[in-house]
Amino acid sequence: MTYAAITGWGKCMPPAVLTNADLATFLETDDDWITTRTGMKERRISHVHAVEMAYVASMHALACAGLKATDIDLIVYGSCSFDEMVPNTASALQYKLGADGAAAMDVNTACTSFLYGYSTANAMVRTGVVKRALVVGVELISRYMDWDNRGCAVLFGDGCAAIVIEATEEKTGLLAETLGCYADARSILRVRGYGATYANANVTFGDMLWDFDGPQIFKKAVQGMTDASAKTLAKAGVAAEQIDLVVPHQANSRIIEAVAKYAGLPMEKVHLTVQKYGNMSAATVPVALVEALEEGRIKANAKLLMPAFGAGLTLCSHYVEWGERLTPKDVSNVELPPCEKTALELVDEIRAKKDVRGRSLAGIESAYYVDRKPYATR
Ligand SMILES: CC(C)(COP(=O)(O)OP(=O)(O)OC[C@H]1O[C@@H](n2cnc3c(N)ncnc32)[C@H](O)[C@@H]1OP(=O)(O)O)[C@@H](O)C(=O)NCCC(=O)NCCS
Repeated sequence: MTYAAITGWGKCMPPAVLTNADLATFLETDDDWITTRTGMKERRISHVHAVEMAYVASMHALACAGLKATDIDLIVYGSCSFDEMVPNTASALQYKLGADGAAAMDVNTACTSFLYGYSTANAMVRTGVVKRALVVGVELISRYMDWDNRGCAVLFGDGCAAIVIEATEEKTGLLAETLGCYADARSILRVRGYGATYANANVTFGDMLWDFDGPQIFKKAVQGMTDASAKTLAKAGVAAEQIDLVVPHQANSRIIEAVAKYAGLPMEKVHLTVQKYGNMSAATVPVALVEALEEGRIKANAKLLMPAFGAGLTLCSHYVEWGERLTPKDVSNVELPPCEKTALELVDEIRAKKDVRGRSLAGIESAYYVDRKPYATR
């Protein structure tokens, strides 16, 4: 039987750090509230396009796997903050990498995009459609954040990481997963101003309004990640105590603690990055995975559990068995251009553009709501 081993991994974190104190300069919030309610102290703000972060992370992942870009058959670009909608961003990454000949697709399931993308690529490798795939989790949320809304503005950050998977006959890699979606609650996390509904509709480009019911999302996230993890462990035939490390989506340290508690896993077995990066949506799990490897927290043949949750409301949990190799085959020296500005300056620039253009979303506030009424039949 064919499996898909993870043979390369790499990350790209933008250097500019936005602290809780920075946020308190323009929002009615403070370090104590953010720290106690979310576990977050800092997050990163990117000075470059998302595809540039994806390029750097991918070059590191390819070097780690000992591969050239032309060896890749498929690029899956997991994100919900695309530089452009058409053409897709995976094609921009393919072009920048010189991965000529690779298929290139975007996957958007919000915060679960990397893991949904990993499932897609894994299935294509295991069924023989492709031999080698690059899976990216990348976000540039800062560009479309609703920076006036303290309920969501304090929670998110930018970042990127990528993995390479390759066909193997050894039983390794992604062995079981559960994917799902609580679509009945999809309107509690919605970004208005982004998508065809708002195009040519009298909306000033750049305006963003987030509908964000934090406490409801919190409950659904705990439920979704817990249920998906239980199902995944059952499918894999693995008991919770056999898991060596949990690499979860990191939207809030209290969500992670609740999921770990219900799963019967101690927090010592959870790899946390939320305090320094906040919620990087699709980038969160792969960045945590890369850092867990770099910090020696993943051992040969480790059993890993990766639960995640996002807008949609999408949910998933992945069970991965690591292989033998824990160190990169080679190292890339590619890095981002230097950032001349502070994170607060970058955010202030985004906010200033919005203020100049003004808000015009109010008129189409409920323009797009999907209902379940059947279409009329003839
Ligand atoms: C957003 C979140 C941190 C709020 O925490 P919470 O414990 O649910 O909220 P609380 O009930 O403690 O606090 C709500 C109050 O804090 C206020 N508040 C919200 N954001 C605040 C901020 N940044 N600073 C200060 N106060 C804030 C609210 O206005 C509200 O005030 P009110 O009670 O006077 O109306 C939490 O619900 C959460 O993390 N949800 C998950 C959201 C998420 O990350 N989703 C992404 C997809 S996974």
